[in-house]
Amino acid sequence: MEIVVIGTGYVGLVTGVSLSEIGHQVTCIDTSIEKITKLKKSISPIYEPGIEELIEKNVAANRLFFGTDLQAAMKNKKIVYLTVGTPQNPDGTANLVYLEAAAIDIAKSMVQDTIVVVKSTVPVGTNEKIKKLIEENTQFNVAMVSNPEFLREGSALVDVFEGDRIVLGANDKKALETIAEVNNAFAIPIYKTNLESAEMIKYASNAFLATKISFINEIANICEKTGANIEQVSTGMGLDSRIGSKFLNAGIGYGGSCFPKDTAALSQIAGTVNHDFKLLKAVIEVNEKQKLKLVDVLKTEVSHLQGKKIALLGLAFKPETDDIRESASQVIIENLLVAGANIHVYDPIAQAGIQAVFGDEIVYEKDIESTIIEAEAVLIITEWDEIKAIKPAIFKKLMRQPIVLDGRLIYNKAEMSSLGIKYYSVGDGTNASYKTDY
Ligand code: UDX
Repeated sequence: MEIVVIGTGYVGLVTGVSLSEIGHQVTCIDTSIEKITKLKKSISPIYEPGIEELIEKNVAANRLFFGTDLQAAMKNKKIVYLTVGTPQNPDGTANLVYLEAAAIDIAKSMVQDTIVVVKSTVPVGTNEKIKKLIEENTQFNVAMVSNPEFLREGSALVDVFEGDRIVLGANDKKALETIAEVNNAFAIPIYKTNLESAEMIKYASNAFLATKISFINEIANICEKTGANIEQVSTGMGLDSRIGSKFLNAGIGYGGSCFPKDTAALSQIAGTVNHDFKLLKAVIEVNEKQKLKLVDVLKTEVSHLQGKKIALLGLAFKPETDDIRESASQVIIENLLVAGANIHVYDPIAQAGIQAVFGDEIVYEKDIESTIIEAEAVLIITEWDEIKAIKPAIFKKLMRQPIVLDGRLIYNKAEMSSLGIKYYSVGDGTNASYKTDY
């Protein structure tokens, strides 16, 4: 089928590329000439493993096109995917200005009845509002389909081709069946709902996963004070198939562009219907506190941080991405700067983002060794393979007094202590000397 995708951000690009990969003719539209120029040369504006190869392949197969002219793209296409961003307003609500502007552009470019598929994460009821907005600006009929995305940065292509389910919500049966047909070749179970339920499934899913993370982090905090070990506890819990082992990794909280934004938005949505979503508010609060866990421990280990070299390994909110939005690294750096520490950081690809925020207030290193040499303490922020592969002996060899505070539970405690390295990992209460009052 012939499809237009509006927006070549993270969701739009992955959507456009994957729809072309399963055989559709896809034109991706963006207002940024710079992005489109790059994409025409198969250069991806986002970092996502495997995406450039797929762009190249489908452009060569004449199934994938990029452009800035929506009107030209919509001339003979009756399916439009809307994937523009819905950033967070200061009050937590989703900002719909880009979505509304794109809706009006669609209306003005329509030359026939059209199906609009919304992939952007939007509050319940938004699809109906967008439908009205389009109808006010066109003489043609529009049918809406809500098709929330469940893409994880860094493994978006795996999620799109091997996901657990595709959710399609519509109040127009014919449109729903057409978009189900578009998705058939993914060979993933399709779950059909009404428009509003599909919108809610997205928020509820992310809020639930965030809840799992905050829950296990709170259990980790209690483990530290009771002699239990969080890795053993979460493994033991996860063996119960009703609980499941995924998203039970304790650490220094969740970050990124989705969980923080979507939990804030859902809490806000609940508020608009006079529901005080107490549980979700606590999930958010626990997460904010957890991001500073390593700083709290550091302050008990190294007195007077003023002028002392503290090393941060990893800056991205998780591995395989250059995204630093809402990452623990940012609040940790802010906090250590206030304490006057001399901060040295290393991340394989996310340094530029942190540099844009902190400029020359901290030192950006070119590799792990230069980051940890002579450091008073090392904080492990992101579990990149390169960081996981560090041989503990190098901490001993290069650091002033080896203290490693591990926010991602990646090293072997016995090996660390046999080398005389002071090692703290979140949720490990089996080492009495590290029981904290946090
Ligand atoms: C998330 C959702 O997983 C995806 O379905 C959605 O549509 C977009 O948001 P993403 O933000 O890319 O994806 O990352 P994800 O892999 O889910 O991790 C989010 C954060 O949670 C990361 O900071 C990660 O470190 C943290 N996390 C995840 C944990 O702390 N513990 C876990 O067990 C899992």
